This record gives sequence, structure tokens and C-alpha cells, in this order.
Amino acid sequence: MPRQLFVTTALPYANGHFHIGHIMEYIQADIWVRFQRMQGHQVHFVGADDAHGAPIMIAAQKVGKTPQQFVADIAAGRKPYLDGFHISFDHWSSTDSPENHELAQSIYRALKAEGLITVRPVEQMFDPEKGMFLADRFVKGECPKCGAQDQYGDSCEVCGAVYAPTELKNPVSALSGATPVLKTSDHYFFKLSDPRCFDFLQSWTQDGKLQPGVAKKIKEWFTKDENGEGGLGDWDISRDAPYFGIEIPDAPGKYFYVWLDAPIGYLASLKSYFSAGGPLAKYGETRSFDEFMADPAVEQIHFIGKDITYFHTLFWPAMLKFSGRKLPNQVNVHGFMTVNNGEKMSKSRGTGLDPLKYLSIGMNPEWLRYYIAAKLNANVEDVDFNRDDFTARVNSDLVGKFINIASRAAGFLSKRFAGQLTATLGADGQALLGTLQAGRTVIAEHYEQRELGKVLREIMLLADRVNEYVDANKPWELAKQEGQDARLQEVCTVCIEAFRLLSIYLKPVLPALVGNVEAFLQVQPLVMGDAERLLGAHTIGTYQHLMQRVDPKMLDALFEPKPEEAPVVEAVQPGGEDIAPTITIDDFVKVDLRIAKIVNAEHVEGSTKLLRLTLDAGEGRMRNVFSGIKEAYQPEQLIGKLTVLVANLAPRKMKFGVSEGMVLAASHADEKANPGVYVLEPFPGAEPGMRIR
Ligand code: 2FM
Ligand code: ZN
Repeated sequence: MPRQLFVTTALPYANGHFHIGHIMEYIQADIWVRFQRMQGHQVHFVGADDAHGAPIMIAAQKVGKTPQQFVADIAAGRKPYLDGFHISFDHWSSTDSPENHELAQSIYRALKAEGLITVRPVEQMFDPEKGMFLADRFVKGECPKCGAQDQYGDSCEVCGAVYAPTELKNPVSALSGATPVLKTSDHYFFKLSDPRCFDFLQSWTQDGKLQPGVAKKIKEWFTKDENGEGGLGDWDISRDAPYFGIEIPDAPGKYFYVWLDAPIGYLASLKSYFSAGGPLAKYGETRSFDEFMADPAVEQIHFIGKDITYFHTLFWPAMLKFSGRKLPNQVNVHGFMTVNNGEKMSKSRGTGLDPLKYLSIGMNPEWLRYYIAAKLNANVEDVDFNRDDFTARVNSDLVGKFINIASRAAGFLSKRFAGQLTATLGADGQALLGTLQAGRTVIAEHYEQRELGKVLREIMLLADRVNEYVDANKPWELAKQEGQDARLQEVCTVCIEAFRLLSIYLKPVLPALVGNVEAFLQVQPLVMGDAERLLGAHTIGTYQHLMQRVDPKMLDALFEPKPEEAPVVEAVQPGGEDIAPTITIDDFVKVDLRIAKIVNAEHVEGSTKLLRLTLDAGEGRMRNVFSGIKEAYQPEQLIGKLTVLVANLAPRKMKFGVSEGMVLAASHADEKANPGVYVLEPFPGAEPGMRIR
């Protein structure tokens, strides 16, 4: 029986573009989903933008947009990332959709009917100018412990103290600069402290479905300390207007806190997929969304990052349970993505990995899919992108071990046998292919368990066996020997059969590459079950190179800081003016600068500014140059000194004669405010005529 899988990734806040952390999660889930589809299972893989909350509302205000428009603009930028990295969501929606409004309100009503909603007054910081309550991060002030200025309302970045925003000294609203006041309003709470919730969560989180490390961590959250603190407290699920969110039924001016409606967005996205007729076309599905979700055989599977475990393993299952809905079958938690040995990601230092930049440089998205898969396991461990490791894995393993199998065999087959494979294989070839076919069970098990690193290790071990076979049989030598045609065809056939089997196993990781392999082999889209059969006497197409190696220059470009992100110290104007537009070295060498000796200097009659200089630039003749330095120098200070002459400046006819060049001198742009002109003089040793370069 095919499984029915409803799979989601965490819904990204619609206040910024995807970063590498999002892409890593999507790649992990996408590989798992593609594997399940290749197993013949029914998969509905959905995502959505997490649209609500104060930060998005405020960000929209800042740029003069409605929150709806702001969120729509972010959503419009999602496609290049998802398509670019071959992420195969079936549907993408938003938590601000009608489906989510409706579902969130109906789940709330169900929880209320269960007696799990309570109302309590809460005292909070309020911005009197903006007329709104302030989330902790929107209050700033002096740390109550160490006195550090400009600290957020929840903790001090200087001394690490944790406190309530009401404890800050001299608090100000980060939104308006106004002094916040304390104000009380009614908040709605989900009664997680209710024994029904506590008992349910305690068993649901410890019954073996979560990763062991995650279950262990959750256990701590249930435990009260010696003061009776901790344990499961009630969860504040309301926010006062103005708030971009979903209205709480029968509670005017109250909205659901963003984290209440965000996970409901998983269901809403699936519902909008069903209403858009989505799964019908693919799977001939006739059930409604409600019927589908009521089927106990349907598995609900979430992929999330470790930072949002609490929401997904406590709040979310409790909401589902007590509103009478299906519970998650898996909550798969992964670690963070770090770059170049865990260096903190900083764009200005160029250590971040910008997904769109990666693509724009022409780096193959499937290199990254392969690399991330190679580093992932089923535990909550961070994944580091290391450029040397990346290059080695792609170039040595993926290209060196896998792609090379096809390139070593395909040429002989097309040149000598018109692409015809043989069905007659020797014992060694059969044994090898049998080993590869048998590998499917363990590879499939690793995929199922999200042990993607183990999947690739297994596949590369099989690729090693194939390469050993090639090295032992040396098709390039068989090709030169008389009477070895049949053996050559057989050896090359074994290689292509093996390459096809490995391609089947790699397809969830490398869908586009294997798409090209299918075209080359002239076969239908491969699924896992195809590994049971061999091609036999089949004709393949012409081999075209399937994958390039990583060029280190690409990685240089990837990690080069963006010019606009290079740290800008201060907008100062050196010497009173901006640096002139950039020129090339070719532009610079057009100016011929020479050392010249000031042989004579004299006043110019009738000029208040100019001195007449007689210069020797080693040309065997003297030059006459007028220079505007009279206010700064007496002629006798200059005579006998060396200076710098622009030697190829077009001669200029002046009132007092022709000037044959220009000497270099420094001055401030605003000479009135910063008087002074300073003629350049070379270090000792320079000689007249030497070029300055
Ligand atoms: O942490 C985040 O980025 C949240 N937007 C994740 C929400 S996941 C789900 F609950 F919607
Ligand atoms: Zn402090």
C-alpha cells in the first residue's frame, strides 16, 4: 500500500529573503520527499510564508507599505531560490490566507470548548505615541544589572543578564523614542498547565517518535526546579491591536500571537492546495481536505530547525490534540548551517553563503544538494560548509567516482557498437551488478531514516567497486586488441548498467543530473523499483558531459564580500573632496610623470599667482612651466630642488608665454579654509628624467 505523506518545512517569516539555512532545510526535506515519491508513495509537500506578527507590521510601516503588500513582495521573490535549488514543493501559500484565518479560528473555538482557554490581565510596556504595546525587543534602555546603555527589553548583551522589560532603567520605545508606560490589558492563554495537556505531552513526546536527543531535551522542560519554577506554564496566545494577524473570535481588538497561527499554516497550505485541485491531477485524489486529514493512515511530517523545537513538540501537538485533529507522526529537527568552520555568518566579512549569488556565479545547485546531503544525519547537528571539503566531495566523489564511470564507457559503446548494450554478461559483471542491486535495501533504509550522509557513503562504496572493475578490465586496452570486441562491449555494458543503478540511488539528491542521465540512457524517469531490472540489450544515446568540477575561482567569487557590503568607516572626504572615479592602470599610464630639476624660478611680472620655472627633465633641453605657487614659495626656496613634472601634458598658451607641462603640488579642496600648497619632492636618489609609475 502506498503511504500518504503530508510533509512540511518550517514556514519562513515573510520579512526577508531566504538564507542558506532555509535552503539547507528545504534540500533535506526535498531529498526525503523525492525518495518517497520514487518509492511510489503519495506525497503532498507544502510550504507557506509566515506573514503575521509585530516585526513584519513594523517593517512594512517603515517602507510605507501595507503588511499585505510587504508580504506579497517578499513572496514574489521566493521562486528563483526554490527553482534554483530544485526544491519540489507541491504548493506554497501564506499564513494570511483565508484558509488559515478560518482554520485558526476554528481550532481556537475547539480549544475554548474544551475549557483550555483562560483570560488574565497582563501588565506590559505601552508606547503612548504609537498607541501600542511593545514586544520585549521593541523596548530599549539601561541594563538594570551592569548599567550598559541601549540594551533590549529581555536581556543584556554586555553582561548577559536576563530581566523583564519593566526592570530596564530609563526605558524608551525603539519605535518612537517615547518613554513607555505600564498598562494592563486582558490576554488570552492556552492552559498548557492543565493536567490533560501535561499528561498528554509527557507521553506523546516520550513515546519514541522524536529523535532521542530531542526527547531528552523536552524532558527537562517538564521538570520543575526546587522552587517549583519551570514546568509547563500557560501560553499567552493573544496580542492587542494594532497587530498584523488573525482576529480572535468574540474578543474585539485581540489577535492571535503569530506563533499560534503559524503552524496552523501547514494545514491551511495543504487545504488551499486541495481547493486549488492540486493533488487530483497527480494522484487521482478524490477526497476533500477534511476527508484526507481524517484518514488515520495519512502521515503528517514536519522538518524544522532546532530553535523552534519547543513550538513544534509542545504547543503544536497540544493544539492539534485538543481540537480533535491528527497529530504529527514525525517532527524532524535539524541543526544550523554554518560556513567555513562555523565562523559566524557576516555578510560584510564575506563569510556568508548567499544562495542567489551561488547560482549567479554559475555554481551547480546539485553540488550543494550533494554536499549538504553528504553532511546530514538524523541527529540535531550543525552542518558546516567548508570550501575545501566541498571541492573535494564534488570533484573527487561525485565527478571522480560517479560521473567518470559513464564517461569511461560511453565513448566506446557509441563509437564501436552504435550505443548497443549486450544482454550477455560474464560472471564478474553479473556479480558486480548483483552487489549494486542488493545495495538498494540499505540505501532505502538510510533515506527513510534521513541518514543522508550514510546514503551517499554507501553509494560511493558501490562506485568504488565499479571503478575497481573498470581498472581491472581496462576497456581502453581491450579497445586496442584484436578479437576483444565482445569483451569490450560487455565491460562497457556493465559500466553503463552500474551507472544506471547508481543514478537511481542518487536521483533524490541530484534530480536534474539524473534527468540528463535518463535522456542519455534513453529510459523513462527512474524510480527506486527500477533497480530490480537491468537494461539488457538496450540502445543508449550519445554521452554528453554531465557535470563540471568545482573551480576554486568560483568559491573565491562566492566568498568575496559584496562591494556595497564592504565595511564603510565613515563618509569622510579626504582633503575636502571625494576620491575621483576609478580608473584603470591603462588610464594611469597615459599620464607621463617625470622627475625634473628646478633649474631656475622667478616671479612673473603682472601675475600675483604664478612663478616661472625652468625645468630639466633629462631631455637635453629646458622646459618653461608656469606654476600657481607664488603665494607658497619664494623662488630661491625652489631652485636646485627636484620635483614631479607631468611631461606629456599638451602645451598651453598663457598670457605670459607657453607652459610646457605642470608640476605636482598638494592642496586642500577648500583652499580658503585650509590654505597651503606643497610642491612634491622625491626621496633622495631620484634623477631628472626618471619616470614615475
Ligand atoms: O522561526 C521561524 O522562522 C518561524 N517563521 C517558523 C514558523 S514554523 C511554523 F510554525 F509555521
Ligand atoms: Zn548588563
